[in-house]
Amino acid sequence: MARILITSAIPYINGIKHLGNLVGSQLPADLFARYNRARGHEVLFICATDEHGTPAELAAAKVGKPVEEYCAEMHQVQAEIARGFRLSFDHFGRSSSQRNHRLTQHFAGRLAANGLIEEVSEKQVFSIDDNRFLPDRYITGTCPNCGYEAARGDQCENCTKQLDPTDLINPRSSISGSTNLEVRETKHLFLKQRSLRDKLEAWIDSKTDWPILTTSIAKKWLNDGDGLQDRGITRDLHWGVPVKNGDQDWPGMEGKVFYVWFDAPIEYIAGTAEWADAHGYPDSAWERWWRTDKGAQDVRYVQFMGKDNVPFHTLSFPATIMGSGEPWKLVDYIKSFNYLNYDGGQFSTSQGRGVFMDQALSILPADYWRWWLLSHAPESADSEFTWENFQGSVNKDLADVLGNLVSRVTKFATAKFGATVPEGGQFGPMETALVADLGARIADYAAMMEAMEVRKAAAELRAIWVIGNEYLQAAAPWTVVKTDPDQAQAMVRLALNLIRVYAVLSRPFIPDAAEAIMAAMGSQDWTWPDDISAAMRVLPPDHAFSVPENLFRKITDEERVDWQARFSGVRT
Ligand code: 2FM
Ligand code: ZN
Repeated sequence: MARILITSAIPYINGIKHLGNLVGSQLPADLFARYNRARGHEVLFICATDEHGTPAELAAAKVGKPVEEYCAEMHQVQAEIARGFRLSFDHFGRSSSQRNHRLTQHFAGRLAANGLIEEVSEKQVFSIDDNRFLPDRYITGTCPNCGYEAARGDQCENCTKQLDPTDLINPRSSISGSTNLEVRETKHLFLKQRSLRDKLEAWIDSKTDWPILTTSIAKKWLNDGDGLQDRGITRDLHWGVPVKNGDQDWPGMEGKVFYVWFDAPIEYIAGTAEWADAHGYPDSAWERWWRTDKGAQDVRYVQFMGKDNVPFHTLSFPATIMGSGEPWKLVDYIKSFNYLNYDGGQFSTSQGRGVFMDQALSILPADYWRWWLLSHAPESADSEFTWENFQGSVNKDLADVLGNLVSRVTKFATAKFGATVPEGGQFGPMETALVADLGARIADYAAMMEAMEVRKAAAELRAIWVIGNEYLQAAAPWTVVKTDPDQAQAMVRLALNLIRVYAVLSRPFIPDAAEAIMAAMGSQDWTWPDDISAAMRVLPPDHAFSVPENLFRKITDEERVDWQARFSGVRT
């Protein structure tokens, strides 16, 4: 049994996330967590809300609420939606927690003690009309790297380049739109990432099994000349972790906070401590996941994120960890994703374009979305959500292939032999062939899941459903029953067992349907079918089962047209 620590990029607190956000981090992380639990590993799956910085302040100001209150409310909203999507976090923390305050201040103190913090008098953009500094997202302008016109002061979402507000061309205030700006001096702390460059490069070079998307982005910013600039880790803001050196005040830094991207990844650790606190466990319970001097040397740590987050996780956060000089666990594998586009354009939170997580759940159950999103995950390239494609996948894969098999077999069996597993007949060559084929395909499926090849794993699972249908088509128990009822009983017995195996295999993708199928099979045996012959005999003769109600329904053309129109414009 292995120990696997899984974190998903922690979503910004400002508003409800869209399906593109979901498929780029939380959902595949959940798939991997569920799969590894199913294989009997010890899994800890941590996520949280990212509550500091300009995104939170701007969103709270927009709705006229104090930022603390806004964050507390939105955390509950996001937690509820995560439950709706069956995201199986062991803990859903908050980056504004006291645990994160203390750990963030601790890391800053360690970095300072190791000579990796520099106090710099920095030029910052000051808005005369707004009478304040404009850090990060408070400023918008054209990206000097790619020319994207709506780049924010901290990062260009088009080309992923990390920026400083003074880099932007034609800058304007995000608050008032004012261009009446000037550059003023203010003192800030800088993390001397540059002096860790060689160490970071050697570390990234050692990760030969990482996805190309991850390493190419990391190398790009590492070798870009200015890619690994020393970074300002403090801001002139009110909301955030107050700048301290461990538990001591930091002279000259009064009233300033740490930059949101400094404290956010530290929340992975703090969130694990929050998990321990929530269960009344001692510190050793979370330290064994994070401290390589306290048990974490045996942990495999996997992070999931969209490509825009990769620079922070391959360079900035590892610099914090390495620079601390303490034995904290570094990530072992970073699974990153491209973008999901929406119906001919981009999903956009700022413009409210696309389907947002709450809206998705209001029209269809979580499994429908989980299946489509995961089976179309933007791995090797950006991918696109269209309503036609969504309707096609749901109707074909879920309703026609999986749902139809389950309902056809259970209804036929009940009608002909009653609601218990029939005992007659023997498995013949067709059944033996199916079992052998299944064994091979389950091994392929498991290999794809281990490799976090999400789309390929979905394709393998679909193929496993398909061979069940093909078997039934060829075996045709509904015909055989007329001439050889015993043989038909053996076929049905096999098919009912196959359905239980499908529940086990499908659960990481479609947990609710899998549980409904397992319940209908009258079983709670979720053992992974390592021994497929044995797995196909788990439901013995006379075992009671039932016909599951409406596993999946089809999406009609009217619904598709209606939803396409409903979600085409700006969210109100
Ligand atoms: O892109 C985002 O939504 C960020 N809030 C992700 C932060 S991940 C991490 F560093 F914690
Ligand atoms: Zn750019």
